[in-house]
Amino acid sequence: MEWTKEERYRALEDVTVEELTALEKIVNECPWRQSYHIQPVTGLLNDPNGFSYYNGEYHLFYQWFPLGPVHGLKHWFHTKSKDLVHWENVGIAIKPTNQFDSHGVYSGSAIEHEGNLLLMYTGNTRDDYWERHPYQCLAVMDRTGTITKLDKPIIDGVPKGYTDHFRDPKVWKQDDHFYAIIGAQKECGTGCVVLYQSSDMKEWSFQGEIETRLKDFGYMWECPDYFELDGKGILLFSPQGIAAEGDHFQNIYQSGYVMGSPLDIDKQQLTHGEFHELDRGFDFYAPQSMCDPKGRRIVVGWMGLPEIDYPTDKNGWAHCLTLPRELSIRGGKLYQQPVIELESLRGEMIEAEITLKNECISIDGFTGDAYELLIEFSESNAQEFGIEVRVGHQEKTTIKYDAAEKMVIFDRTHSGQPVGMEFGEIRKCHLDGDIVSFRLFVDVSSVEVFVNNGEEVFTGRIFPHQDSRGIHFFANGGHTKLRAMKWNMAKKFNDL
Ligand code: FRU
Repeated sequence: MEWTKEERYRALEDVTVEELTALEKIVNECPWRQSYHIQPVTGLLNDPNGFSYYNGEYHLFYQWFPLGPVHGLKHWFHTKSKDLVHWENVGIAIKPTNQFDSHGVYSGSAIEHEGNLLLMYTGNTRDDYWERHPYQCLAVMDRTGTITKLDKPIIDGVPKGYTDHFRDPKVWKQDDHFYAIIGAQKECGTGCVVLYQSSDMKEWSFQGEIETRLKDFGYMWECPDYFELDGKGILLFSPQGIAAEGDHFQNIYQSGYVMGSPLDIDKQQLTHGEFHELDRGFDFYAPQSMCDPKGRRIVVGWMGLPEIDYPTDKNGWAHCLTLPRELSIRGGKLYQQPVIELESLRGEMIEAEITLKNECISIDGFTGDAYELLIEFSESNAQEFGIEVRVGHQEKTTIKYDAAEKMVIFDRTHSGQPVGMEFGEIRKCHLDGDIVSFRLFVDVSSVEVFVNNGEEVFTGRIFPHQDSRGIHFFANGGHTKLRAMKWNMAKKFNDL
C-alpha cells in the first residue's frame, strides 16, 4: 500500500481511538509477533535511541512511527527495564511538536547530568520545497520520568561544508567536557562524522570533522557511536552506499566499526584498522551502545533495514530490536555475547549428545518457536554440518559450517515468506579458526546466531508458518560429535 505524504505526517492527536484500536487488533492478529524481543505495539520501529542507565533502571528508547509500517512522522518511544530482559513500555517520550522537529524526532542518545537524563536528538524539519533542515535538540527527563523539551535547539543548523544529511548525535563525557559526534555528509557527497564540544550540554562548539582513513566510504554515515574499550578507541557507524564485496556488505546498508588508538580529541583524529561489519546476517542496522554501572559496554541494534518490505507490513507493524549484547575485544576483534541476564529467561531444558554421520535427524523434544539453543561441535571431519530450525512442510532455516571453505552459512531461502530477496537469501562469513559452537536465540520471527562465543553474529528475521517448529541436526560427507542444549523461553513475559 502506498502512503501519501499526508498520511505519513499525520499528527497522532488527529487519530481517533477507534482507529488505533482497529490497528492494534490487526497487529495482534499477526502470526509473527515476537515473544521476547522489543517490538512496537503498532507501526514501525527503527533505531534504538537514548540507551542508558538512570535512576536505577535501564532506559531504551526507539524511533517510532505509530500509524503503520512506513517511515512517517517519527517519535521517541520509551521502554525501561531493571535487568535488560523484562521491558516495560512507558509510552511516547518525545513527540514532534515545534518548528525544530516538525517532521520527526530523529535519532540520538542520552546522558545523565545534574540528576536528570538528558536526551539529545535530531529535530528533522522540511520546508515548503520539502528540503530538510536538521537541528540538534535537547529534552530533559527528571527522576519522576517527566520529559521537557528545551524551546530552542542546542545546535542550530549545519556547519559550512556539509549537507542537510546531518543527524544522530551520540554524546559522552570525557574529563570536564561533553562531546557529541554527529553523522554527516560532506558537500562533495561522502559520509563522515563530526565532533562537537560543550561544558554544560547547552552551548556547543563545532570542533571539526573526525579524520579517519575512510575518506571515500559511502555517501552518508548514520548513527555514529564512539567509545573506548580495553584501551582501544572504537567508532561504530552505519555507512550508506558501500558496494557489496565478496561475502561482505551484502545488505542494502551496512553497520560496523573501526578500532584503533583512542580518539585524539584535540586533533579530531582516529588512527584505526579495517572496517568490520558488526553483524553478518540480514537484518541489522543503526546499533547504539551504552556503558552500564557494571562497566559493561552493551550494544542493541535495529533488527531491520530501511527501504525493504517485510511480511508483517500487512498487519500494520514492522521490526523489533536485537537482544542486548555485551562487547569485548579478543584478538583485536569485537566479540558480542548476549547479556548474561538473558539466562533468566531459560525455562524447561533439554539436552542431547550424539554423533552424526551423513545424516539429518530430529531428536525428541527439540522443537519450538521461541528458545535458546546451544550446540557445541567436536571431533568433526564432515564436509559440512549444522542445524535447521523452524522446520516444517517445505520450510527450514539453515545454519551450517562448511569445513572446506571454513565458512559459516545462514540460509533463509526456505524460511517461509520471503523478505529482501533482491539482496540475496544467504549470508556467509569466513572463520579464521575452527568452529566450536553455535548459540541461537530463536523467537517467533527471528534468529540470532552467536558463533564461537560471539566471534561472529548473524541476525535475521524469518517468517515461517506457525506449524514449522522442527529442529534438525545434520552432517554431510563425514561425521561430527555434537552436544545440544535447548531452553524454552518464557513466553510473553512482558507487556511488549
Ligand atoms: C537510521 C535513520 C537515522 C535517522 C532515523 C530516522 O535508520 O535514518 O539516520 O535519525 O533513522 O528515523
